[in-house]
Amino acid sequence: MKVSDAILSRHSMRVFHDRPVPMEALHRLLDVARYAASNGNVQPWKLYVTMGEARKRLSAAILKAMDDGEEGGPAEYDVYPRVFPAINDQWRKKVGKDLYTLLNVPKGDAAGMLKQFKKNFEFFGAPVGMILTVDRCMGNGQWIDSGIFLGTLMLLAREEGLHSCPQAAFARFQKIVRRELAIPDNEVVLCGLAVGYADPAEVPNNLVTDRAKVEDFTTFIDT
Ligand SMILES: Cc1cc2nc3c(=O)[nH]c(=O)nc-3n(C[C@H](O)[C@H](O)[C@H](O)COP(=O)(O)O)c2cc1C
Repeated sequence: MKVSDAILSRHSMRVFHDRPVPMEALHRLLDVARYAASNGNVQPWKLYVTMGEARKRLSAAILKAMDDGEEGGPAEYDVYPRVFPAINDQWRKKVGKDLYTLLNVPKGDAAGMLKQFKKNFEFFGAPVGMILTVDRCMGNGQWIDSGIFLGTLMLLAREEGLHSCPQAAFARFQKIVRRELAIPDNEVVLCGLAVGYADPAEVPNNLVTDRAKVEDFTTFIDT
């Protein structure tokens, strides 16, 4: 598979089949992902890969905490900035509107939105649920590295015929994630990553997300 094919065929999937992911495929994927670049080759990322009963236990614990009104957070970083440049805010609102339109959840339907939000914590049905963390002592530079690692994982998943969905939602329940996976206090829960087989044609996997044009975010300087 060409890199561009991996990039263009990667979309966030929000419905997965329960078909298990072979351990060999996961090992191959991780074995290559470790070659992701990091400044100073620091390799700051840490990854927790849950499957089978462990994946189900994590999901059940978060959903129970939500139902019980247990405070599982807050996230240890601003998942979104408090104030957005207007254009970025527009992109975020558009993808939310398009997703909920596909799901037939009308604006203001808090129960419908909560139902969809909760699906995050079942990794949208994916058999593999990953949690990405980074040591608390690490700075912005190592968060960049961790993002590169996350992107690399998602592209390598395509090479294995797998799809994925990155999930900052898990950061909001970091206390429960930490407890369930015995993640030490010195690590910050960055996000989850659902990995599995998915049909891109299925609703809402067929969500089409737009992108800004190259000239909207690039400044070419040659004089
Ligand atoms: C770091 C990160 C966190 C994300 N968190 C969530 C999430 O919690 N739930 C979700 O449904 N999608 C989440 N997404 C998916 C984005 O909404 C998605 O990447 C974006 O709309 C572009 O769509 P695409 O991935 O299909 O290209 C996240 C994406 C990234 C990169």
